[in-house]
Amino acid sequence: MNFKIIFILPCLFGFSLAGLASSITNTTEYMLLPKYKLEDVKKLPIINCKEDSDCPNYSKGCVFDIEVDLGVCDINVYCNKFNGCVALLSTFDSSKSSNLIIDSFQTEKDTKPKNLPLCKTNENCFSNICSNGVCIVDDADPIYNCIIAEYGVHQSKVTCGKAANQLCYDHEDCISNQCFDVCDSDYYNNNHSGSISESTLSKAVLVFLLILSMIF
Ligand SMILES: *[C@@H]1O[C@H](CO)[C@@H](O)[C@H](O)[C@H]1NC(C)=O
Ligand SMILES: *[C@@H]1O[C@H](CO)[C@@H](O)[C@H](O)[C@H]1NC(C)=O
Ligand SMILES: *[C@@H]1O[C@H](CO)[C@@H](O)[C@H](O)[C@H]1NC(C)=O
Repeated sequence: MNFKIIFILPCLFGFSLAGLASSITNTTEYMLLPKYKLEDVKKLPIINCKEDSDCPNYSKGCVFDIEVDLGVCDINVYCNKFNGCVALLSTFDSSKSSNLIIDSFQTEKDTKPKNLPLCKTNENCFSNICSNGVCIVDDADPIYNCIIAEYGVHQSKVTCGKAANQLCYDHEDCISNQCFDVCDSDYYNNNHSGSISESTLSKAVLVFLLILSMIF
């Protein structure tokens, strides 16, 4: 009798945990950061690099800045309460990752990127809500995105903000820095490398003009 109760209790407990906890596991495309909460990700160190192999395994790789002849290990981390924090690696392709769909929407009818996979079950969605193939925002558990933002010419900083379509009050709430009741689509996520090379280019042009102005 006593033995039975002792046997049944852990089974019940284990079952309820499995029902609540996220099913995300490490793959070659993304890495779970079980020891990190959003606040910890904000404090991740900025690591300088020359090549990808200089970077920690949660990094997307080395983003090189020709101007200062030094790179910074890039990160693209998503966090919510349900999953904790997950780092997307350079191999992650949102159009092919049907097991982990990061993008979530307020309604099924919202405009979506054409190549976004459809969810089949709640587990496919980082938001943990799948409705008719669309991952729906959980307003009670918003998704945050953390990236390396460039501050000034030689400084970088881990910056976190709500991902696209999460409810927001101020522009600063959003990683896109664009709040119109919900965060506007995630500029950095879709356009990260483009925006870095463009800003580097414009800085290079600026330096060139400065040098010119000093000569003449
Ligand atoms: C995933 O990898 C991270 C980093 O190495 C590790 O801390 C974590 O325990 C791994 N998680 C799983 C579920 O294997
Ligand atoms: C990531 O790196 C940590 C520390 O170097 C190591 O302990 C861990 O096993 C690595 N995880 C994976 C999934 O490669
Ligand atoms: C990507 O960046 C370019 C230039 O900065 C911009 O014109 C374009 O709209 C961006 N694309 C997306 C999908 O955000």
